[in-house]
Amino acid sequence: MKRLSIATLLLSILIFNGAAPGKKEPLYRNPAAPTEKRVEDLLSRMTLKEKVYQTWQSYVGLNSNPNNAGVILDTIPLEIGSLIYLEPGPELRNSIQEKVMKESRLGIPVLFAYDAIHGYRTIYQIPLGQACSWNTDLAEKVSRVSAMESRMSGVDLVFSPMIDVARDGRWGRISEGYGECPYVNSRFCIAAIRGYQGDDLADHSHVAACMKHYVGYGMSEAGRDYTPSDISDQSLWETYLPPYEAGVKAGAAAVMSGFNTLNGIPTSANKGNIEDILKSRWGFDGFVVSDWCSIKQLVNQGIAETEKEAVRIAMNSGVDMDMGDNLNMEYLEELIKEGSVQEKRLDEAVRRILRIKFRLGLFENPYIDVTAPDKRYLLPESVAAAGQMADESMVLLKNDGGLLPLDRSKIRRLALVGPLCKDNVNLLGNWSAFGTAPDVTTIYKAVSDEFGEDVEIIYARGCGLDGNDESGFQEAYEAALKADAVVCCLGEDRMWSGENASRSTIALPEIQSRFLDRIASSGRPVILVLSNGRPLALSGMADNAAAIIEMWQPGIAGGKPVAGILSGRVNPSGRLSVTFPYSTGQIPIYYCRKNSARRGTQGLYQDITSEPMYSFGHGLSFSVFEYGDIHLSDSVITADMKIRAEVTVTNISDTDGKEAVLWYVTDPFCSIARPVKELKFFEKKMIRAGESETFVFEIDPLVDLGYVDRNGNKFIETGDYHISAGGRNATVKAVKRL
Ligand code: GLC
Repeated sequence: MKRLSIATLLLSILIFNGAAPGKKEPLYRNPAAPTEKRVEDLLSRMTLKEKVYQTWQSYVGLNSNPNNAGVILDTIPLEIGSLIYLEPGPELRNSIQEKVMKESRLGIPVLFAYDAIHGYRTIYQIPLGQACSWNTDLAEKVSRVSAMESRMSGVDLVFSPMIDVARDGRWGRISEGYGECPYVNSRFCIAAIRGYQGDDLADHSHVAACMKHYVGYGMSEAGRDYTPSDISDQSLWETYLPPYEAGVKAGAAAVMSGFNTLNGIPTSANKGNIEDILKSRWGFDGFVVSDWCSIKQLVNQGIAETEKEAVRIAMNSGVDMDMGDNLNMEYLEELIKEGSVQEKRLDEAVRRILRIKFRLGLFENPYIDVTAPDKRYLLPESVAAAGQMADESMVLLKNDGGLLPLDRSKIRRLALVGPLCKDNVNLLGNWSAFGTAPDVTTIYKAVSDEFGEDVEIIYARGCGLDGNDESGFQEAYEAALKADAVVCCLGEDRMWSGENASRSTIALPEIQSRFLDRIASSGRPVILVLSNGRPLALSGMADNAAAIIEMWQPGIAGGKPVAGILSGRVNPSGRLSVTFPYSTGQIPIYYCRKNSARRGTQGLYQDITSEPMYSFGHGLSFSVFEYGDIHLSDSVITADMKIRAEVTVTNISDTDGKEAVLWYVTDPFCSIARPVKELKFFEKKMIRAGESETFVFEIDPLVDLGYVDRNGNKFIETGDYHISAGGRNATVKAVKRL
């Protein structure tokens, strides 16, 4: 582990008093003064070194991300801008902050940051699963829980939401975002930002949000992490940029530049994306922080010959804060003095960082009240929110013969088999912050509690998640033979997804499909329960199960919703936010593809189907929903009109259920070829048995029917536009101004 020289650090601990005794308080210390005036006043007082140090983010505590080698600071400089805070409580933060506020010359508080991706201690569903809930109110609710736990534990900013549109399940980080659709990522990005930031960043139940990884990281070549991505300008504007634009409009405090080389220019050295689009065109006024060592990595990527050159390029590209490699601290002052980086560029970076610190109220309230852990973690309402999200995000993929919910009159014995039955670690998912396995309810416990005394549970682990040890097969097979139905719990290790977790295939390890084969040979009805952090290729498994429940990695709720779906207590309402291919060989495969040059069977695979196994938006319910016709307020429109589309959905079953209505738009003919369909709105509602609910889509023609060109300019052309929902269609004609 390389250590910074004490001399370098000691230099930084120069203790002056910023406001000489006897003088009136400087403007920047006046909370009643406008933020921008405070920023400018403070900036004007700062030395070059103080400004450089504000752009420095290091970390304190035990580095919990094994992918990030880093240097341990011997001493924390009083002027450092930010620290990734890896301690589970505010005490260390407060002691660092107190030293900074009392001993540094200007008393600029440190901003503490952390990766609370889907919870801090109350761990809830992974983002890919959250999107399957189609319930952005719930996403906001759980984000609010994470914000409260994070802030009360000493964190001011979370490195979330991750909104990298991804269509390649081989890429482990697909688990961290909201799937394949730019619109879904946009909606959940907004929800997360609202949940994290609330309406006042200074409130200690809120945290600053940092959208990541700007931009196009989800297109990492071959699904391998850290590889380059090649994305056309057209695709950038129609797919990868929209979630970030949505987040800027929602007021995100920060953006993280990524690792990937994008079209030859690394995203942490991409002036076009950062300065021209993010800051100038969209008016983003927060700060851009590099991803971990992504400035240093510019040397690996062949953009910079030296680390100093890397700092020059990144700074001049608009990256405001350097995470993890300490290079700004080492080279930036020299670069400024030699004129390679203009001081006004440094001023702009510091301005943005200070702006967020003022908005967070760090100058007035630099310390976090120390509370007992049980006053902030796993509060009843927090646990309930995580449970609701788990309930609504699980997806019933298959239910042949209406096997589920199980007929209690016919079930005397249930076999629970498979490596994830009694697992509570992997159900936490990756990036599980300070979540702990004991917080998680296992599937075994949940099912035992759910079916109580009158059903005998027979458990057999059967096999591991991978490897070749089949010694447990027989015991599990015999358990199945004794039972009336079998719940087979398979899936992934939580570290098989997340960062640096690419896999060459999205099929589960062979031993799992062999195990399922053996269990199916018992002839008993099998319910396959899957916990995983990516879409799976189930072609070798799906036929061996009458029912399939995709539970994702639900966090502390664990198996409770699964047990509820088995018993009927939970009516599944999840729908897929990402396509489940039939096989890895089909990747990329996603709903909003563009038309092929040929129709019919031409251009299809010769060896397997070209269709996915389970499509985007697929999900079964115990209710039966019947869609009426779509009614449009107008059938002929001009670009400046608004129109309403309405559909009434009736629950014709005897089971109350929630239904997410997904509204798609198809423009069959356009000067730029468009996807076969594009999701433009969704809404989820409870529909009581026998009752109806009307769903409305307020259409803004330019936004919802129109398209975008390779320069990011939205446009709408005349012609027919098809609106669809639930298999129903209606057509509106756009004409030139009448
Ligand atoms: C990691 C990840 C990023 C995370 C950051 C800080 O390498 O790429 O998502 O927020 O470093 O841990």
